[in-house]
Amino acid sequence: MIGKSPWLALACAGLVCAGATHAGPKRQAAANDMPRLVQKDGRYALMVDGAPFLMLAGQANNSSNYPAVLDKVWPAIADMHANTLVMPVAWEQIEPVEGRFDFSFVDELVKQARAHDVRLDVLWFGAYKNTGPSYAPAWVKEDNTRFPRLTNKDGSTSYALSPLYDTTREADKKAYVELLKHIKAIDGQQHTVIILQPENEVGVYGAARDYSQKANDLMNQPVPDALIAKMGSRALKPAGNWHDVFGDDADEYFHAWSLASYAEDIARAGKAVYPLPTYMNDALKDPLHPQTPGSYASGGPTWNVLDIYKVAAPDIDILAPDLYSPGSDGYEKTLELYHRPDNALFVAETGNKGLYARYLFTTLGRQGIGFDPFGFDYTGYTNYPLGEKTFGPDQVKPFGTLYAAVAPMARTWAKLSYESQVWGVSEPDDHSEQDLDLGGRWTAKVQYRQWQFGMPEWDPENKNGYPDGSDVPSGGVAVARIDDDTFLVTGYKARISFGVGADQPGRGFILDRVEEGHYDDKGNWVFERVWNGDETDYGLNFTDKPVVLRVKLATYQK
Ligand code: DGJ
Repeated sequence: MIGKSPWLALACAGLVCAGATHAGPKRQAAANDMPRLVQKDGRYALMVDGAPFLMLAGQANNSSNYPAVLDKVWPAIADMHANTLVMPVAWEQIEPVEGRFDFSFVDELVKQARAHDVRLDVLWFGAYKNTGPSYAPAWVKEDNTRFPRLTNKDGSTSYALSPLYDTTREADKKAYVELLKHIKAIDGQQHTVIILQPENEVGVYGAARDYSQKANDLMNQPVPDALIAKMGSRALKPAGNWHDVFGDDADEYFHAWSLASYAEDIARAGKAVYPLPTYMNDALKDPLHPQTPGSYASGGPTWNVLDIYKVAAPDIDILAPDLYSPGSDGYEKTLELYHRPDNALFVAETGNKGLYARYLFTTLGRQGIGFDPFGFDYTGYTNYPLGEKTFGPDQVKPFGTLYAAVAPMARTWAKLSYESQVWGVSEPDDHSEQDLDLGGRWTAKVQYRQWQFGMPEWDPENKNGYPDGSDVPSGGVAVARIDDDTFLVTGYKARISFGVGADQPGRGFILDRVEEGHYDDKGNWVFERVWNGDETDYGLNFTDKPVVLRVKLATYQK
């Protein structure tokens, strides 16, 4: 039987009250609110229609940005249970002839997104796409005098455009601003488009920077004081030119500054027209092993130059990693490096192989505002070996299963993430267990490869084996604090066992009440059943059919 929980009153008295976060009169009243990124004490929320919004996103393949292809995109987004489609809009597509603009794809995209009740994250493929100008119009790509390519260290010409020329930046900016004027005109009230990515994976391969005479002259100019102040001990001197101040890192830092300044100019002009939140995505530098600039995209917003972007590009709200290395140590390290008090975590891209899906849990636990796996459409294109070899509903399923569990509570989760506390862990490659400190009063242990019944120590030789398929790491758990003793919990192929924290010494642990249920479209908790007995005696066990629990913890005097 499905009915209203006795905890509904508690929820509305506490942090999560239906009217404040969900559809209904307040949402209507707030419908004209611009999407925006808000920050409080280093915690972030993407506000959409006046309330925190969690982007459960899916990104289409690069060449799916034409009306004829959209009917192969929506079924994948629906199977995924995504609430946001991430879609490129290319410079070559909107300005094939200089000064003549064509927004027919944008019009169709916005119309169809509304029909599918899905929000849009629009990627601007301007002068930079995977560092190169492939999506710039022919009149840009073919005119290397007006739009110069950068010079490699050996004097040869790079494939990439230099960010140091006003001609390139002004032309790119003009197209981007026209795009924003158009989005404002067609969507300024409804806010189907909620966030923008100006440029795509900036940086350069094969060089650390532009080595042209113009660039060399700029390298000899003084480094801006604000940058020196921000870089702390990485600035070798309190003043001087780029080589003086940054020594061996000068080339990469100069190129990062140049690209960040280029993107800032474009983003600022766009915001002056229509102030949507913005982010830049990054082709990653290995977070665990040394690499030379140019073997990765030098000058892009890699983890080592985030401070440069923060100084040079205040109108870029978020610096966001593209994660295509599945190893759990590196993945977790990258999430840690991009989750900073001055940077909201957004997984701008990740691979579409099933083993990436579990990283949704760590992203949620790090107060992520969104998660965006790449290559979600049924065009038949796949980016193997980064993603799956073939792509269809079976490959969408690992992501769709998790999104289906989280989607109904996405607004509730986003509000708790912003205003309360959240935790989340993904199964490590070695399946090892993880301990959580839930703020002093409570702890939790998360384990993988467990049966739902019994303790592993009952079967030390593992005669019963492991659950089917559990050799491939895919589990995870996410926990949000509703009040001091009540937590919202979901998970996949994982066991969570709560315990008493250091703040309650000498107390014995009790699971006071474990409710399974879901949130309705107004944000009310809808009770389905109580878990007890076998279902709670060996921790709370999430299977391959994730559910949502509200868990109340208590103690007794031992
Ligand atoms: C990262 C880029 O941002 C995407 O557009 C795409 O090219 C992927 N790499 C690879 O499929």
